[in-house]
Amino acid sequence: MNKVNLVAKYVNDKLANDKTGHNIDHIQRVVKMAKLILQSEPAANAQLTIVSAYLHDVIDDKLVDSVEIESLKLRLYLIKCDFSNGEIDDIFNIINNMSFSKNLKFKRTLSLEGQIVQDADRLDAIGAIGIARAFYYGGHFGDVIYDENERPRTLENAKQYRKHTTIINHFYEKLLKISHQMNTKTAIEIAARRTQYMQDFLKEFKLEYKAKR
Ligand code: ADP
Ligand code: NI
Repeated sequence: MNKVNLVAKYVNDKLANDKTGHNIDHIQRVVKMAKLILQSEPAANAQLTIVSAYLHDVIDDKLVDSVEIESLKLRLYLIKCDFSNGEIDDIFNIINNMSFSKNLKFKRTLSLEGQIVQDADRLDAIGAIGIARAFYYGGHFGDVIYDENERPRTLENAKQYRKHTTIINHFYEKLLKISHQMNTKTAIEIAARRTQYMQDFLKEFKLEYKAKR
């Protein structure tokens, strides 16, 4: 098996049972999208991008009990797969720094490969797939679909609120803003279309909610 396939197998085993929308089909879409973006980014290291796309969720603190232990396990596995220390550092640099929250907190700069994986991951949160994932996630946590009186939270007041908002509100708080955070030209174009699709969905949703014909 080549290195990329070995990494794919590792991720498959780790995320086999996830029910929050980070399952293996999310990973496969992110890998596929990263490959598409790579076509217009000749300066990027393709193997580093693809491997990081596979691994981007496996040490996420939302998904694992101990980030330290999972990081160590992953490092040992990558050594066994014959990745060099430099390559392993590059991979960890990407997967440790690409999430929304870490970006906000540390304002770290991502490598080009990291920017591609981040774009691919963010694109999977918007458009038709993004809608499907939001309802899947909200359903898993028992969230309400919509509340006409709910006001979007801002970053400043978010701490005063419960962690879970209504599913429709999640679009206003996060999903409709994602298109402004893309790094690559390809992702900016795709994000614009997918965001329009979500806007159309929200418009139709509210019409139906009011029982308009
Ligand atoms: P990331 O993949 O960047 O780690 P999250 O773990 O925050 O993103 O979200 C995974 C998926 O669940 C995304 O599609 C996201 O839109 C959706 N999601 C996250 N939080 C909520 C929420 N409060 N309500 C509805 N969907 C959510
Ligand atoms: Ni992801």
